[in-house]
Amino acid sequence: MNCIVVTGGCGFIGSNFIRLMLEQYPELSIINIDKLTYAGNLANLHDLNENSQYEFRKGDICDREFIESILNQSGIDAVVNFAAESHVDRSILDSTPFVTTNVNGTLTLLDACRTHEIPRYLQVSTDEVYGSLGDEGFFTEETSLAPNSPYSASKASADMLVRSYVHTFDFPAVITRCSNNYGPYQFPEKLLPLFISNARNDQQLPVYGTGENVRDWIHVLDHCRGIDAALRNGSVGEVYNFGGRTEMTNIALTKLLLKLLDKPESLIKYVNDRPGHDQRYAIDCEKAEIELGWSPQVRFKEGLQATIDWYIKNEDWVNNIRSGDYLKYYDQQYSDRLSGS
Ligand code: NAD
Ligand code: DAU
Repeated sequence: MNCIVVTGGCGFIGSNFIRLMLEQYPELSIINIDKLTYAGNLANLHDLNENSQYEFRKGDICDREFIESILNQSGIDAVVNFAAESHVDRSILDSTPFVTTNVNGTLTLLDACRTHEIPRYLQVSTDEVYGSLGDEGFFTEETSLAPNSPYSASKASADMLVRSYVHTFDFPAVITRCSNNYGPYQFPEKLLPLFISNARNDQQLPVYGTGENVRDWIHVLDHCRGIDAALRNGSVGEVYNFGGRTEMTNIALTKLLLKLLDKPESLIKYVNDRPGHDQRYAIDCEKAEIELGWSPQVRFKEGLQATIDWYIKNEDWVNNIRSGDYLKYYDQQYSDRLSGS
């Protein structure tokens, strides 16, 4: 591949993906389309400003004319769609932007890619489309979709549109579904960066409900390597699951973080549960291992320590975001919900 378009590249996973791809493939050019919502941050790719293989175009994946003006140029080998509203709690407060970007935006990309006969399309999806597990079992690619939050419903809808385009139009798409990512540049509304930042400032860590919900953690670079493998070697119409084989309850993870940061457990505050909170996610990623030759490389213990070190070293990056107006507005509505008012 010589040139790919990445959408949502100024967010957490997209920015890690772009950096990794440019390091790994010196001949590759990347065009990054991002609307720069509250979660998009040019600082995430500040080191690429002078890189001639990288181009940033500010814009919305729902804007067909804008998308076509980019796909119009010759030599684009693939589109990788990361762009999304990604936070479950926000989708509970207001689901409209989730449907707009995650569903309508995906549809716009699919139609524009068809028009310009883009040879490859990868939809970055999530394990949350499968719903929730009990104590036993794993999500496989055959598990029925049963999304429980407005966020996961919008992602599942997008997956269904992609599936329908493959079936109806022979559209050359692949879908990937991954578990919870951790690593550098994650927006500090998500559990890990929020709790690291709060703990460092001796603020409380709001654990939802009992804290017994389980997530399967994967380092963001392992996810990015999986997306790359699926982009290059995945079969059209197929879904590939990625996970880190690292299941933990939220409360165990919170206690581990506090230990690594040398902070007391008295900072833990049990708060109102997330409405509809999924109990457990766990991924069976054997298909990706067998068909793509992929497997997670980063051991959780080392990856978590490196992640903590990154957030400590890049405290300004976190503080710049946390002082933003948009986040303050959200924080207010959100803390009202947590306290039940
Ligand atoms: P993020 O919120 O950090 O980044 C999303 C990016 O998309 C931002 O840069 C934002 O500006 C951009 N964006 C939003 N709406 C847009 C629009 N209409 N047009 C153009 N750009 C727009 O999200 P993330 O955590 O990096 O997630 C990226 C993708 O990976 C999402 O599709 C998400 O569903 C999926 N995913 C995330 C995880 C995870 O653990 N974070 C796990 C599995 C899958
Ligand atoms: O599983 C993949 C998904 O992982 C992605 O599709 C989503 O985009 C991503 O945001 C993430 O969703 P989660 O809802 O699992 O992530 P979050 O960091 O919001 O929460 C992780 C767990 O921690 C979840 O069980 C809720 C809980 N939690 C979260 C926050 C922010 C708390 O207990 N307290 C908190 O303050």
